[in-house]
Amino acid sequence: MKAVRIHTYGGNDVVRYEEAPVPVSASDEVLVRVHAASVNPVDWKTRSGGGQADKIGERFPIVLGWDVSGTVEELGSGVVDPDDDGWAVGDEVFGLLRFPQPGQTYAEYVAAPAHELAPKPSRLSHVEAAAMPLAVLTAWQALFETGALEAGHTALVHAAAGGVGHLAVQLARWKGAGVVGTASGGNADFLRSLGAAPVDYTRERFEDVVSEVDLALVAVNGDVTDRSLGVVRRGGVLVSIRSEPSQEEAERLGVRAERVLVRPHGGQLAEISSLVDAGHVRPAVAAEFPLEEVDQAFELSESGHVRGKVVLRVTTG
Ligand SMILES: NC(=O)c1ccc[n+]([C@@H]2O[C@H](COP(=O)([O-])OP(=O)(O)OC[C@H]3O[C@@H](n4cnc5c(N)ncnc54)[C@H](OP(=O)(O)O)[C@@H]3O)[C@@H](O)[C@H]2O)c1
Repeated sequence: MKAVRIHTYGGNDVVRYEEAPVPVSASDEVLVRVHAASVNPVDWKTRSGGGQADKIGERFPIVLGWDVSGTVEELGSGVVDPDDDGWAVGDEVFGLLRFPQPGQTYAEYVAAPAHELAPKPSRLSHVEAAAMPLAVLTAWQALFETGALEAGHTALVHAAAGGVGHLAVQLARWKGAGVVGTASGGNADFLRSLGAAPVDYTRERFEDVVSEVDLALVAVNGDVTDRSLGVVRRGGVLVSIRSEPSQEEAERLGVRAERVLVRPHGGQLAEISSLVDAGHVRPAVAAEFPLEEVDQAFELSESGHVRGKVVLRVTTG
């Protein structure tokens, strides 16, 4: 099969689109024919030796990619039939695989832990479905598990036009929370369409117009994390998916401050799949590329200004 692999960490020049063995599924896995995979910043950060590279180490060659949408091709010996909550050949599934260990989804086939998959939302194409898992599970776990966001709360979502942010805004709105989102001015209408009040970070300091929020979701580095602590109400929570917040400052302000790392979760993704089919959440796909043009997809993502997600189309030869 064809796969996107690296044999060393580095820039886009280390990325190879090449022949690789079709993976063999373990007993608790299914073989998925990949229709689409998506780009998350962690993919190119890890390619460079940052991201999750310290957890993965030097086990080259590494097939890149964590998000997948595709079709079940073969069942591992321990994966029971669908009547027993398992999978059947031909099922359309999506998932975030094995994170932070290599997910190996940038390939024509991937062996997927069965419990990390969920039914693909039927109203989405594979390209749209592949855009979701890592970003939407990050948003879900940050807002609801760690952040305990409830109806009537107000959330500040930074980078609200990005992969995580645009899904976080929709999940928070579905929950019944009010949302303020930061983005550059060109994304103001996009944020409004998702139900968030936009703050243009290029023109104003968010702390001049936002205060006393119940939750702040921080997906931007630099001083944004610590500045955001100051706009959370006493007793509220800041959830960072970037740098570690200052516990000293959080304590002084009476704010709970957490940093989260997303983890795969087929159950949560199944719940999200139902929300998509009910019309509450929908991913925005900014651009799609064939798998062999992954370097161009990475370049676009590395610009730091994608609206929604960049997706890779995979067609089996
Ligand atoms: N800890 C975890 O588990 C976890 C999980 C997922 C992601 N992450 C990390 O979280 C970050 C965001 O991920 P992502 O997938 O959402 O990235 P992304 O899609 O690449 O984010 C792009 C967005 O960021 C916005 N942006 C850039 N600078 C900004 C600023 N100063 N203020 C507000 N918005 C800004 C851009 O909006 P404009 O074009 O309008 O500027 C753009 O829409 C990445 O660093 C990623 O690695 C961590």
